[in-house]
Amino acid sequence: MIGNKLRLNSVLTLLLLLLVSGGLSASVSQKSVKEIVKSMTLEQKAQLVIGTGMYFPLPDSIREKMPPMFGGGLDTSTPYGKMVEKIRGYLPGTAGVTAEYPGLGVTSQTLADGPAGLRISPTRPGETDTYYCTAFPIATVMASSWDTELVESVGKAMGIEVLEYGADVLLAPALNIQRDPLCGRNFEYYSEDPLLSGKMAAAMVNGIQSNGVGTSIKHFVVNNQETNRMSVDVIVSERALREIYLKGFKIAVQESQPWTVMSSYNKVNGVYTSESHDLLTKILRNDWGFEGYVMTDWGGGSDVVAQMVAGNDMIQPGSPETIKTLIEAVESGKLDESVLDTNVERILNIMVKTPRFKGTKISNSPDLKAHAQVTRQAATDGMVLLENNGALPFSKSIKNVAAFGNASYDFISGGTGSGDVNEAYTVSLLEGLQNAGYKTYGELKTTYETYMEEASKVQDKSKNFIAALMGGKIPVEEMAFDASIAEEMAAKADIALITIGRNAGEGGDREAVEGDFYLNKNEKDLIKKVTEAFHAKGKKAVVILNVGGVVETASWSNIPDAVLCAWQPGQEGGNSVVDVLSGKVNPSGKLAQTFPVKYEDGSSSDNFPGEAIKVEGAEDNTADQSGFSMMRRVPWEVVYEEDIYVGYRYFNTFDVPVAYEFGYGKSYSTFEYSNLKLSDKNFDEKITVSIDVKNTGDVAGKEVVQVYASAPGKSLEKPEEELVAFGKTALLEPGKSATLSFDIDAALLASFDEASTSWITEAGDYIIKVGASSKDIKAKATFSVAKDITVQKVSKAMVPERDFEKMHR
Ligand code: BGC
Repeated sequence: MIGNKLRLNSVLTLLLLLLVSGGLSASVSQKSVKEIVKSMTLEQKAQLVIGTGMYFPLPDSIREKMPPMFGGGLDTSTPYGKMVEKIRGYLPGTAGVTAEYPGLGVTSQTLADGPAGLRISPTRPGETDTYYCTAFPIATVMASSWDTELVESVGKAMGIEVLEYGADVLLAPALNIQRDPLCGRNFEYYSEDPLLSGKMAAAMVNGIQSNGVGTSIKHFVVNNQETNRMSVDVIVSERALREIYLKGFKIAVQESQPWTVMSSYNKVNGVYTSESHDLLTKILRNDWGFEGYVMTDWGGGSDVVAQMVAGNDMIQPGSPETIKTLIEAVESGKLDESVLDTNVERILNIMVKTPRFKGTKISNSPDLKAHAQVTRQAATDGMVLLENNGALPFSKSIKNVAAFGNASYDFISGGTGSGDVNEAYTVSLLEGLQNAGYKTYGELKTTYETYMEEASKVQDKSKNFIAALMGGKIPVEEMAFDASIAEEMAAKADIALITIGRNAGEGGDREAVEGDFYLNKNEKDLIKKVTEAFHAKGKKAVVILNVGGVVETASWSNIPDAVLCAWQPGQEGGNSVVDVLSGKVNPSGKLAQTFPVKYEDGSSSDNFPGEAIKVEGAEDNTADQSGFSMMRRVPWEVVYEEDIYVGYRYFNTFDVPVAYEFGYGKSYSTFEYSNLKLSDKNFDEKITVSIDVKNTGDVAGKEVVQVYASAPGKSLEKPEEELVAFGKTALLEPGKSATLSFDIDAALLASFDEASTSWITEAGDYIIKVGASSKDIKAKATFSVAKDITVQKVSKAMVPERDFEKMHR
């Protein structure tokens, strides 16, 4: 007893000293963390590793009826209940809070979504102050910029809001691979390519964490669909897992050391990721050197003991029952307390870095005006000009613009679900045009607004339950279009804009149907009739895609005079789009994913979203697919038969025609590539590739330069080419050149060899292809590797339980 007290006193003195001295050197804080762990009771440890529930600011009478995980049934007469009640007030609308024990120096951590900006409640009961956050461009826009510096600067601004509103960890970035165009959460993810995804995520983490707040890279790993996300078992080869799905996370961990990692909902090769020791300990910590803590996704996994043992240190959002289960597990000897101590220690090692622990004062008033400028500019760099027959940029004579399509008036800044930001406003395309001084048409606005208001009253929102619940925007269908409106406008306006909108997000995948992946009849009619009417008057029509993921374009993209993929570009959307249309900004975005001709053309389409599986001996529950797919736990399996042939790795290798290839995007300028040089013909530790890029057009612009490698693929089969490096020029004035150079080391060329569990760069001849896209290769050069190089031997881990068909060349 006396011993305990003494220990407690020394912990307190130590903490006091550290706080007074205003800094925590790593070694001292680690020592104090160990002391804190020693001074905690089993109950406190269990309460720390299990979150305190997801708290929605609801009337008490409603919350009482919610399950414990969502804040119901909290006994506020106990010390724990009192503490939880208090910390829930720290940041209303946050996704999770961890327990605090002021007497021990343990402060609470506030964990808040999400990838496109901080997600908190914008208003608080009884207050007139508002707490809006900036809706930055979605991750897909960021990846389309191919600009790590830009992404880091967006992360910096986002992190300031995290800090100033009092959160400790932002639950972002999300970097799952865009395996299939129909994944509902693709907007939160970067790309179909792991190198691009990893570099983007690392830049974002570095930007956010430069403010002294943390991140949680998610969803680790292979969370490529929403359908049955809590029970789906992904069967995937070790090689595809390492090369495609894990690689981006590895880059992010090693190049930015995120404070935390969020495990995903799904299983991989039979095991929940949050219960996988292979994934969270062997791979993440031993192979890669991750130093922070791992938390579950909200409600993920099923066995808290397995989670602790696996190295999943924190359960979110957590419930009192799980705390009880954990305590009993230790008491009964099912879980060794030393395992729990390690989990606690990892959480505390991050805690000592948090703003709350350091007592950082918060302003609650980040500079939202400055951040509006950040998002406005960043979005323009991620827009992709898909087609342009001289319609863009607007010529000087264009003054009057007719805007068609619902989304012109109700612009979509970002996707739905936990990745949806509560921003103060979204600039519509119409407002963007007006802000830039263009004349628009009140009668069109009235027609659209009246139609949308009526249509939303009868809209079926059941499919988008989560979006509706979380206040997301669910666009209504385009109206049946009357050609006479187009003719009337063509007589008056100088140009037509037609915005096609789509939204999706957490809680559901998209469908390969009209009105979703495919444009529906009304949308196609709209494009056709408006273009015809404007062409009849010698005027042009431009389509703007305000979408969170890929849509079909091949059947209609040659009708209008230009197509701009604006994605969902954040709250300044309308201004950003008009900056590009007007030529104030020259578009420089390139696709970070392939646009297939038809949905079925993609390599994953036969295996998306998988199928129900019959569990032997169990009652057949495969037939019942009722209920809410996002939450139910029916046995479900998806087999990644396409293996490593994801996205362009498939389309380019098997010569499947596409609408727009990976890396594609036009500019208002033209660029010439010349003088490709390799530092050597024979590979030693690395090869340096350099190339000159010259702006040969009439306007200033930036060019994304992509470096692909074709490997010999002798004993290790390889895709036709793989991205190994990329860069972007600064703004080049007409006639100006820049030299870009890239270091290619053996790791960038390596493949994962399942037999030896190692990364190997095969001996043989390699071709370096430098291009403006994955197909538009401008220059090639070769070098050779004399003998096989073993880059790294890693843990044998996550092996599929059975063999399955895999795609081969
Ligand atoms: C999502 C996560 C999110 C968490 C907390 C989950 O449903 O999958 O991405 O961070 O909720 O809101």
